[in-house]
Amino acid sequence: MKIQIINGPNLNLLGRREPGIYGQSSFDEYLPKLQAKFPDVEITYFQSNIEGELIDKMQEVGFDYDGIVLNAGAYTHTSVALQDCIRSLKCPTVEVHISNVHKREEFRHHSFISCACLGVICGFGLDSYRLAVEALIAAK
Ligand code: DQA
Repeated sequence: MKIQIINGPNLNLLGRREPGIYGQSSFDEYLPKLQAKFPDVEITYFQSNIEGELIDKMQEVGFDYDGIVLNAGAYTHTSVALQDCIRSLKCPTVEVHISNVHKREEFRHHSFISCACLGVICGFGLDSYRLAVEALIAAK
């Protein structure tokens, strides 16, 4: 099984960015721990701050891989293009957020991508990614 994790804008700053909200760990520190939990799953990782690059990566893997775990960052709340992309793919996408966006500012309560995703996981810190991988395995 192959799963692609995709992180959007500013998530390259995990560990340094608002640690009270997003935690102390960088994604590079977390990724090997996540991969070790799923030895039978090939988990690959991509991050970009650029909306079109996220779409390019999703189009690249979305017809071959078994699932995508997407934290679209702030594009979650703005991007019709990401919604269209998710709808276009063969594999399911799980939307992930580190923070509980529903406990935060009102503008974070609406997602343009949830309606196209298999499901949404938010508010469990970096463990949200593990839960999303579990959900994709269970859905297979
Ligand atoms: C986020 C929540 C978004 O509202 C925010 O813009 C992010 C990170 C999260 O993982 O909690 O960049 O997606």
